[in-house]
Order: sequence, then structure tokens, then C-alpha cells
Amino acid sequence: MPAILLTGGAGYIASHTAICLLEAGFEVLALDNFSNSQPQALERVAQICGRSIPFVQADIRDEAALEHVFNTHQISAVVHFAGLKAVGESTEKPLEYYDNNVAGTVTLCRVMARHGVKQLVFSSSATVYGDAQKMPICEDAPRSATNPYGQSKLMLEYILADLQASDPQWRIAVLRYFNPVGAHPSGLIGENPNGIPNNLMPFISQVAVGKRAKLSVFGDDYATPDGTGVRDYIHVMDLADGHVKALQYLQQQAGLVAVNLGTGQGYSVLQMVKAFSEINQVAVPYQIVARRPGDIGTCYADARLALQLFGWKAERDLADMVRDAWRWQQQNPDGYCS
Ligand code: NAD
Ligand code: WQD
Repeated sequence: MPAILLTGGAGYIASHTAICLLEAGFEVLALDNFSNSQPQALERVAQICGRSIPFVQADIRDEAALEHVFNTHQISAVVHFAGLKAVGESTEKPLEYYDNNVAGTVTLCRVMARHGVKQLVFSSSATVYGDAQKMPICEDAPRSATNPYGQSKLMLEYILADLQASDPQWRIAVLRYFNPVGAHPSGLIGENPNGIPNNLMPFISQVAVGKRAKLSVFGDDYATPDGTGVRDYIHVMDLADGHVKALQYLQQQAGLVAVNLGTGQGYSVLQMVKAFSEINQVAVPYQIVARRPGDIGTCYADARLALQLFGWKAERDLADMVRDAWRWQQQNPDGYCS
């Protein structure tokens, strides 16, 4: 049976997606250069699924290596997660971001086309909506970017649309993730940030476990109910299921679709802190500090298109998100090195 190639396969979202794909009866092949992940993640996926996960260590920018992968494996579709994702770092190292994300994806698509593999699910981001004026955010909202990371996703959305328009055999699902959080309920896999976490949930988890003294809440003067930033947090297992549904959709439908994967529900930073500490019965000390440059006040999805096209909606609630994030953190205080 041909496999689904997961680029960035050892990463946070891909490792969870691998489980859902295997459970849905797909074969998977993971490819990663391990620049932001470890092979242990795939060993843990194997432990959860009771079978080994084939993987290749390669860089998506290495065309010869990709050629070899496509020559030696039967691949029916690609779910393309590989990329760099740290907003702050992208402003310091824009060329690395454009090279990895944009050039890497162009190389990948070129090899796919050569091998007649024209089904692609692409990891985009709600960041392509910039500072959206209207909530909830629909897929046809104006797009913009304020940093090289966002710019790379936006460029790729245009590149993929041009590619599909040039050759209607391509079937592409551009998935715009909102804020993925949580972990597999086993506590065996989860988000494993290098150094100081950029994102809220891993930071809260590290404060709760005692690795960091307190959370800095970036601003309490936004136009939100409690003044702190509001986001659409989505459980990573729901997000993973969304990829299975998107692939199943592409098996039936040609063309390109861009679809939000969010819950449609926004929570503020303080609501997240409260939920985490109350549900997990653990203290999360915090202090209010200045706004983080580049942050927006509110961002949540109109999640109706995913339901309409894919028959998918998020099933897990905030309690599931904070419980599963905490289980992963407690069982693996130092990530996969624990
Ligand atoms: P992650 O860093 O855990 O996973 C990305 C994986 O890609 C890592 O395992 C990394 O080693 C690998 N990788 C990076 N560059 C590579 C290259 N050139 N060749 C091969 N492998 C490479 O990140 P994630 O959170 O799982 O994100 C997956 C995708 O989803 C990314 O494209 C990201 O931009 C996008 N996304 C993430 C979020 C989020 O908040 N986590 C939100 C929206 C979109
Ligand atoms: C969430 C809220 C912060 C950390 C980023 C990327 C976006 C996407 C998801 C990839 C905000 C507040 C955070 C902290 C805080 N990634 N916060 N203290 O900024 O919505 O999105 O990740 O595509 O592109 O920009 O997520 O988790 O960083 O922040 O108060 O230590 O938590 O201000 O309101 P964000 P986040």
C-alpha cells in the first residue's frame, strides 16, 4: 500500500498526525532533518501504535535526497509539516526561514510533480490573516504578514495556488492552524520546545512544573474582556484528525482549498492560566508585563468551512487541552530527553 509522506514527521503536529493516520488505515513514511525534533518522538509514536514508523533523515531542500525517497518508496500523497516556525527568530534570520520554508517547499513540489504525486496537505497558519479586523476569521478574509515567518507561509499559499492553477491534477489542502496545544492522552508525545518556549501553553507548563519561576503575561490593555490576548486554542489531536479528514477529502475532490482548523472559540491568556491551574490543581504564578511587539489582541476562527468540506470539527475542550498538556509535561519534564 502506498504511504503518506509526512515531512517534518518527528515534529509536534506531525507526530500526533501519524497516529491518527495509522488509526485511519493509512501507511506513513516520516521524513525529518531533526533540526527541531528528535527521533525519540517517532519511537514513542511506535510505542503508542504498536508498530514501527518508517522514517528517513533528510532535508526537504536536498533535492537528490528527496529524489531517492520518491524512487525507493511508493508515495500517494504528502502532508507537508517541515519548516521553521519561530516568529521572533524569523526576523533575525529571514534567509533561513525563506530557504527552509519557501525554497524547501518549492523543491518538494518539484520532486512530487516529477513522480506524479500531486496530492498535498500543507501546514499554513492563522498568521496569514495578520491583524484581522473581523472576528471570527473566515477563509476569505484579507491576508497579510508582519514577519518573515508569516511572509513565508503567505508566499507559499500563493505559490501553491499558482502551481494548482498551472496543472489541475494537483489536489491541495492549505490548512490554516490556529493555536495548537495539548498532547496525546498517553503523555508519551507532546510539544518539546528548545530553550525558552515562545508559545503560551508550553510556557505555562514549564512554570507549573517548576522549570520557570513565573509566566509573563504580555499586556492587559487589549480590547478583550480581561485585557489579555485572546486566541483560538485547538487540541493537537483534533488538529491531527483534521489532516486525516483533509486527505480523505482530497481523494474525492480536485482543486485547491484553504481551510481554517480552529475551534471557533477564543480564550484569553488569563482564562488559560486559570483553567490550567484549576483543572490540574497546580499553581501558575504570573505577572503582567508590557505587550509583546507584533502581537495582536484577538484571533479566532470561523470553523464552519472545515465542517462543510471535510465533515471535521474540534471535539476536545479546554479541560482536555490543559490536562493533556500537563500530563505530557509531568511525565517528560525535559522533553524526550527525560
Ligand atoms: P515542529 O518544529 O515541531 O515540526 C516541524 C518539523 O520539521 C521538525 O521536526 C523539524 O525538525 C522539521 N524540519 C524543519 N525544517 C526541515 C527541513 N528543511 N527538512 C526536513 N525537516 C525539517 O513544528 P510544529 O509545531 O509541529 O509545526 C508543523 C508545521 O505547522 C510547521 O510548518 C509550522 O509552521 C506549522 N504551524 C505550526 C503552528 C504551531 O503553533 N505549532 C501553528 C501554525 C502552523
Ligand atoms: C498566545 C497568547 C501572547 C507567551 C504564534 C505564532 C503563530 C502560530 C501560533 C505558527 C498571546 C500570550 C504568550 C507568553 C503570553 N504559529 N503569551 N506570555 O502569538 O497567538 O501565535 O503561535 O504558525 O504564527 O505567531 O501564540 O502562544 O505565542 O501566544 O502572555 O510567555 O499568549 O501575547 O496573547 P500566538 P502564543
